[in-house]
Amino acid sequence: MTGKTQELPSADNVRLSKEGDSVVIIDQTKLPGKVETLSLQTEGELFEAIRELRVRGAPAIGIFAAYGLYVLARQIETDDYEVFLATLREHSRHLRSSRPTAVNLSWALGRMEELVLSHPGLSPAAMLPLLEKECRAIQQEDISMCRSISEYGLSLLQPGDGILTHCNAGPLATSCYGTALGPLFLGAERGLPFHVFADETRPLLQGARLTAYELQNGGIDVTLICDNMAATVMKKGWVQACLVGCDRVAANGDVANKIGTSGVAILAKHYGIPFYVLGPSSTFDANCPSGQEIEIELRAPEEISKNYYARPMAPENVKCYNPAFDVTDHTLVTAIVTEKGIYRPPYTQNLAAMLGDTTKQEP
Ligand code: MRU
Repeated sequence: MTGKTQELPSADNVRLSKEGDSVVIIDQTKLPGKVETLSLQTEGELFEAIRELRVRGAPAIGIFAAYGLYVLARQIETDDYEVFLATLREHSRHLRSSRPTAVNLSWALGRMEELVLSHPGLSPAAMLPLLEKECRAIQQEDISMCRSISEYGLSLLQPGDGILTHCNAGPLATSCYGTALGPLFLGAERGLPFHVFADETRPLLQGARLTAYELQNGGIDVTLICDNMAATVMKKGWVQACLVGCDRVAANGDVANKIGTSGVAILAKHYGIPFYVLGPSSTFDANCPSGQEIEIELRAPEEISKNYYARPMAPENVKCYNPAFDVTDHTLVTAIVTEKGIYRPPYTQNLAAMLGDTTKQEP
């Protein structure tokens, strides 16, 4: 692994190196204080980067894993198709186990594996250019999906609206624009003003470290609040819509997203504020009937008791419960915005149609 410090983040926060032998990312754990790029090559480095949230956000980890698998595929020393396939699958299985909740990770790795399976007997040397094309395509598709989600999302807002968002679903979490933040960046490009309340998002502070940073850099009016201040800004009438991303959407419209999202949705319902979930179709899991079946990642207690404090703010060895995500019940979701359109209840029916449908729904 090599590290390099630069001034500003580039739009391509996840990319393949020019030589194609490593995946280059902006280390999100260092933001906003330092913009540091990392060049990752080994399975251990790639796994660690996902696990430790150096690269994070459901679409971004999918893109990263696809590039990572390509980089690892280049390192497989064999001319034999079966050996190549088995080794690639082993790498894929390991990367997949790094974080369980965001479905984009297994979706992207599955796409890479499928490609190899669909060319039985092809030599590894001939397979590599196809794999490279596939991982680049995953990223390009993500860019156009985010653009489309941003257009649909923007159609739900009025210039001047106050928007509340939780965690980070901006360019850093995708490849460009983002999902929940996409309409705001697109609006800014068109001179449409919005005021954003960014939840700081305990315990890993994605809202404070990443969302506030991205919006401020993008010239968008942003106010950082602690998670427990959402009800106050809603009650004051300062919020006209909530926009959040998603890590896995079940067939019935239940949404797994960063821990704290479901609390925001409950508050939004109480105050009569629309609660919109934005995500690419790669985040939908038709095999998962409801939120109950979604595996929620549990993370280290130190993230609550020690991280981001100059000194520990909890008694030594106190028990902590640290689920990384929660599930927002579909009854709390006003609409789900994908690259294909805006979907409202009944979700079971409408999301199934969306996943089977290749045409777009115009806003
Ligand atoms: O633990 P994280 O930071 O990876 O969690 C990210 C989120 O919950 C995002 O809202 C989600 O992945 C959507 S990103 C477009």
